[in-house]
Amino acid sequence: MVPLLEARNLEAYYGWSKVLHGLDLTVEKGKVTVVLGANGAGKTTLLRAISGLIRTTGEIRFDGVRIDGKAPEDIVRLGIAHVPEGRGTFPNLTVLENLRLGAYTRKDKQEVRRDLDRIYTYFPVLKQKSNSPAGLLSGGEQQMLAIARGLMLRPRLLMLDEPSLGLAPVVVADLFRIVRAINEDDGVTVLLVEQDAVGALEVSQYAYLLETGHIVSSGPADELRQNDSIRKSYLGY
Ligand SMILES: Nc1ncnc2c1ncn2[C@@H]1O[C@H](COP(=O)(O)OP(=O)(O)OP(=O)(O)O)[C@@H](O)[C@H]1O
Ligand SMILES: [Mg+2]
Repeated sequence: MVPLLEARNLEAYYGWSKVLHGLDLTVEKGKVTVVLGANGAGKTTLLRAISGLIRTTGEIRFDGVRIDGKAPEDIVRLGIAHVPEGRGTFPNLTVLENLRLGAYTRKDKQEVRRDLDRIYTYFPVLKQKSNSPAGLLSGGEQQMLAIARGLMLRPRLLMLDEPSLGLAPVVVADLFRIVRAINEDDGVTVLLVEQDAVGALEVSQYAYLLETGHIVSSGPADELRQNDSIRKSYLGY
């Protein structure tokens, strides 16, 4: 097992209030890892902590190098793309302009153009609508744009904050299929945080369960799917 991202005894704070209470978490290289948790569990906070957006204690290593305490832009430059909750695309810019922004740290312009073509094969609708303002896309299309923009960084780690939020089940299934393809075909390691346990466990190889800032359970995704309490609380069967 080769870890790409490791958090040890990670704590995170908003002001004086501690929201993550000493998490240990490993994201294996080349795999999809999911962190499941209910509203307020600390999922978004975890991704913010990794991205250097909030105050933390403990250690975070990316490919063996300490990144806790680094500036967010330096963390992005190392190859960590963060697709935030609520998408965060720029509504007045076109789809194409949003995608180009995703590649702002890159100098390899020809490669950027090639990646754009490749990303359009995952999300054909974005090619069709490349000149439309992002604000006119549907919710699902905006989520696709947010993920596509993250991919334009050519990340080594793609972090997705609840991509399923507010989307119809068929759209979610589609999105997760694309996430799987990106992982398998392009070798991008993925850290997903989700409440939709059904779809997320299907797309992931390893899972953590987060409750009020504590990891209460973890294991291979198929094992967690069999776990009785997880089935009752998260899978609803
Ligand atoms: N900016 C903030 N300032 C203070 N407290 C915050 C802030 N953002 C989140 N919190 C608190 O931190 C805790 C974890 O919130 P977080 O947003 O990480 O949860 P989440 O698991 O992402 O939930 P959801 O599924 O609803 O997005 C909650 O108790 C929340 O009230
Ligand atoms: Mg959240």
